[in-house]
Amino acid sequence: MRKPVIAGNWKMYKLLGEAIDTVMELKPLIINSTHCEVVVAPVFTALKSVCSRLEGSNIKIAAQNCATEQKQGAHTCEVSAEMIKDTGASHVIIGHSERRQFFSETDETVNLKTKACLESGLTAIVCVGEMLDQRESGKAETVVATQLAGALDSLTVSDMKRIIIAYEPVWAIGTGKTATPEQAQEMHAFIRRILSEKQESEVAGTVRILYGGSVKPENIKDLMTQMDIDGALVGGASLEAKSFAEIVNYK
Ligand code: 13P
Repeated sequence: MRKPVIAGNWKMYKLLGEAIDTVMELKPLIINSTHCEVVVAPVFTALKSVCSRLEGSNIKIAAQNCATEQKQGAHTCEVSAEMIKDTGASHVIIGHSERRQFFSETDETVNLKTKACLESGLTAIVCVGEMLDQRESGKAETVVATQLAGALDSLTVSDMKRIIIAYEPVWAIGTGKTATPEQAQEMHAFIRRILSEKQESEVAGTVRILYGGSVKPENIKDLMTQMDIDGALVGGASLEAKSFAEIVNYK
């Protein structure tokens, strides 16, 4: 059985006080939610304070990016996986489409960052997903397969046990246009098939694959009924504690 993961990506939203207020409001709303793992991803500047407030709670904290370099060094403005771990965070979102589109993230950097996370003992949430024109021209599966091959290059079976995949079709992010549960399921099954064809065959059945793109309290239940959807990576609807808690408590 794969334990579902509901993760909130706060992107570049919330000042420190707002981030703390949101998690303090969220905490009691999901205190009994043992059916899934709950993760929130604030901005770097809020990581440490939010982690301190959540010590002993059932909410885990993710960063939204990390450096490719693992050693400390002259890399102005970069934050290493080890430094993220040092804040108390346990997860890192890697290769989000906004990083790929606007910050030159490539499959190669996604791979290096994933390895850096794993080496530091963090869980990597590796994002993949096609653009609208790629879907419309029938290339969605090829694009996702290429992204996966690059991101997961030379990862071992034990590495694979510590990653989470997030399928986020770019056309569904922040647009209110969710993939239908069937469309999402089709891609998730495809991703699992790719995993099983690689060396990671024994873990293909255990890797959690999250769906992201306009997930809301109104559509989470239908998405979660699909066999290969193991949770959600939520943007806009994770910013309010109440709506995020409704998503977490979809059952
Ligand atoms: P929305 O839920 O706002 O569409 O964002 C999805 C996302 O990008 C999560 O990483």
